[in-house]
Amino acid sequence: MKSYILLVVTIFCFLNATGQKFEQLAKTPPMGWNSWNKFACNVSEDLIMQMADAMASSGMKDAGYEYVVIDDCWQVDRDANGEIVVDQKRFPHGIKYLADYIHSKGLKFGIYSCAGSMTCAGRPGGRGHEFQDARTYARWGVDYLKYDWCNTTTQNAKSSYITMRDGLFAARRPIVFSICEWGTAKPWEWGKEAGHLWRTTGDIVDRWDAMISIVDKEKDLAKYAGPGYWNDPDMLEVGNGGMTTEEYRTHFSVWCMLAAPLMAGNDLKNMADETSAILKNQELIALDQDSLGAQGFCYRDNGGYQIWIKKLAHKEKAACLLNRSDEEKTVQVDFNVLLKANDDYWSSEPYKLDDYKIRDLWEHKEVKPDKALISIKLPPHSVKVFRFIKRNNSL
Ligand code: GLA
Repeated sequence: MKSYILLVVTIFCFLNATGQKFEQLAKTPPMGWNSWNKFACNVSEDLIMQMADAMASSGMKDAGYEYVVIDDCWQVDRDANGEIVVDQKRFPHGIKYLADYIHSKGLKFGIYSCAGSMTCAGRPGGRGHEFQDARTYARWGVDYLKYDWCNTTTQNAKSSYITMRDGLFAARRPIVFSICEWGTAKPWEWGKEAGHLWRTTGDIVDRWDAMISIVDKEKDLAKYAGPGYWNDPDMLEVGNGGMTTEEYRTHFSVWCMLAAPLMAGNDLKNMADETSAILKNQELIALDQDSLGAQGFCYRDNGGYQIWIKKLAHKEKAACLLNRSDEEKTVQVDFNVLLKANDDYWSSEPYKLDDYKIRDLWEHKEVKPDKALISIKLPPHSVKVFRFIKRNNSL
């Protein structure tokens, strides 16, 4: 009888050891740097090492950025055994060497592949090689995998990503799994089962209108995100030159309100002071990384002007006033209303403005309005972000 029970337990444990993702990873949205937005296919060992150096020396690492991710174009072929072949010219010492170097800097290492037969840049994809590639990634010391959706023809999205998830789990190295399916098959509905984050839209472009059109697509997705599973509105364009500093501040603020993964996409070696100040704004990053893991939602929308609210741990809250229009706007702001801006309004323990300090997260100072209702000027394409900090919370 005893041995029968043992057998049943062993079989149960075995079955349980597959068919799952690594939990306890990405409890807050992943932060790092990815090569694509700035360098596209122009990646090399030198470049990635320089970016890892810059991540550490520029203060980005101290600000919380952790993963250094090579996007498309590091791979050129498969060998006779089906093993992925690295571009020898660009990565002369191989990928493990690079991963070791990145780890030696106290950072983590990420790589890219694709669920289809070829990547978006036409390099060999992962289809049919999921378990083999996962073992290779584990051997190399990969900590993060971005998995794209090009050349997938009739593949089913959910089962394709589940297959790769199982490959990663079987390879036994905890790897954050970033689903890059562009929102086509509603990954917010199943992504949590397969991975830790999922792209919700097509690719970001370094332009105001393109960035803001991504924001529009996030409006109804808040309920799908939480600690360990995130909507991903794509990587950051901050510092790449296509938007003004004000617009980049807005881009970064909204991403933090959305609890979005924060993957910088600029040249970390040559960062203007304004770029650095945006990407390293600790008060904004704290919103993004808040332990409650609640994605912000659009509380008021009158087209050109929106108010986004994000619930934070310990009954705190953030509000982002967003002027999307091309004109300056003067808006009436009632801090009482902002603080109570959700269901908690009716709760037995209502929020009381007197219990809170109000902090302006770009001015980095406390706002002390004479009365709860004030008027605020918002330049075109700008934001104001406030945090309601509970007076008796030790922050
Ligand atoms: C797709 C992805 C991008 C990038 C490129 C690489 O377009 O959405 O983020 O990875 O492929 O080819």
